[in-house]
This record gives sequence, structure tokens and C-alpha cells, in this order.
Amino acid sequence: MVKTTVTTLAKCKTQKTKIAALTAYDAAMTKLLNNAGIDLILVGDSLGMVIQGHETTIPVTMDDMLYHTRCAAKANTSALLVADMPFGSYLSTEQALYNATKLMQAGAAMVKLEGGSDLADIIAKLTKAGIPVCAHLGLMPQSVNQLGGYYVQGKNKEQAQKILDDAKSVTKAGAKLVVLECIPESLATTITTTIKAATIGIGSGKGTDGQILVTHDMLGLSSNTYKFCKSYASLEPLNAITNYIHDVKEGVFPEKEYVLAL
Ligand code: KIV
Repeated sequence: MVKTTVTTLAKCKTQKTKIAALTAYDAAMTKLLNNAGIDLILVGDSLGMVIQGHETTIPVTMDDMLYHTRCAAKANTSALLVADMPFGSYLSTEQALYNATKLMQAGAAMVKLEGGSDLADIIAKLTKAGIPVCAHLGLMPQSVNQLGGYYVQGKNKEQAQKILDDAKSVTKAGAKLVVLECIPESLATTITTTIKAATIGIGSGKGTDGQILVTHDMLGLSSNTYKFCKSYASLEPLNAITNYIHDVKEGVFPEKEYVLAL
């Protein structure tokens, strides 16, 4: 089976083929997503809320991420496997290099970290070390205590400019993928058409190069309900994932009711 790679992401962007992404934290979910034909699987630190029952992603440790990345990697045959770097695991370049290396050795093909221009040096060093990087901008859940809650980001002109500048900065540093979480659709579209890296949106409208949701949320397996999350819970699991992929690829999802801000 042909695996999705960073080259595939670049091709999707130039050919305007949408990238369908979902989360998985174990072998069973990874197998299901592979069978449905998902492009990208994120072993997200959302596992702190979904699997561990915490209120935020902050308690998630490197040991947790390594364990779940190994579980997902063992079953993955076709998707690009991206692993989150958890809170406090990339405070210095040395620490980031050490921890990202561990995630790659656990089976990830790319690591994701939350932040913009402040992480440019770290992103450049990881890239130089052969570690593909995904940057996460907009609503950054690891900064929830700074933000004061889970709110749409980039609604005013200054904030929007900062997020756009951050997207340019992480791309220049070498990031091959940028997750845009809970920002206005118009801003996500501008970023997507401006930067070379592919973009994946969550709660950020239709204009990104791809979409991602937390699988447990869209399957109705978690207690979380978010306005931007379309529910596929009425379908049996494989059918639900196949329908989601179809909706993303055809540009059906996100419909108007799942867009947080224009
Ligand atoms: O941790 C996660 O699952 C994520 C996605 C929501 C993008 O970061």
C-alpha cells in the first residue's frame, strides 16, 4: 500500500486535492482509519481529554505520547502518522530535538508543536535533523491558561495579522504542514493561499487544504460536543469514516453550520 508522505501533502496542495485527517491513539482506530483510506492520522495530545479524562491537554507526558504513537504506528500501513509534542516538551532546541527524535523512533513520520515565530529556530533545527514539522496556530490548547478558555482566535485585525505572520514564519523555518484551529474562515483562506506549506483546518471553515477532527468526537464516543464538529455517530464506524473522507474530499464538510466565524 502507498503511504502518504510530505511529498503527497505538497502535491495535494498544488493539485487542490483536499487532505482528510483524523486522530487515532491506538492500533484499532488506526486500522479502521487506514481501511477507510484516511490520508493523515494525528496521535494528538487530545488523548489527554479523550482517553485519560483530563480537562485539558496539559497533563499529557512524553511517555504517554510515546506509548500511543507506538500503538498507532504498529497498525499504520498507509497514512502519514503525525505525533503531538506534549506541553513542556519543546522548551529549548535541545529538548525539542531529543523528544522529537524519540517520537520519530516510536513510529511518527512528522511531529506537531503549538506556536508560531517564537518556535522558528526550533522548527529549523528539527527540519535540519530530518524531522518533518507541523505547526499548530490559532487556538492552541496547550496555551488554554494564557488564553483564558477555548475561544475563536484572530477575530481582530492585529490578532489576524499575527497569525498570518506566524504562518509565514513557521513555513520559512521549514514546517511542511500547518494546523489552523478555530480561526475565521477568511483568515484561514488567506493563510492557505499565502504560504507554501499545506494547511489543515479544525473549526476554521472551508478554505484550508484539508480538514481534521477528533475521531472520538465525530463518532460520538466522547462526551465532547463542539459546534464545528459534524457528527457521524448515526453510521457504523467504517461507514462514518468513509463518509467523512468523502465530505472532506468533495468540499462538502464543513457546511455553514460548522463554521465558527467568517
Ligand atoms: O490534539 C489534537 O487532537 C489536535 C487536533 C484537534 C488538531 O491537536
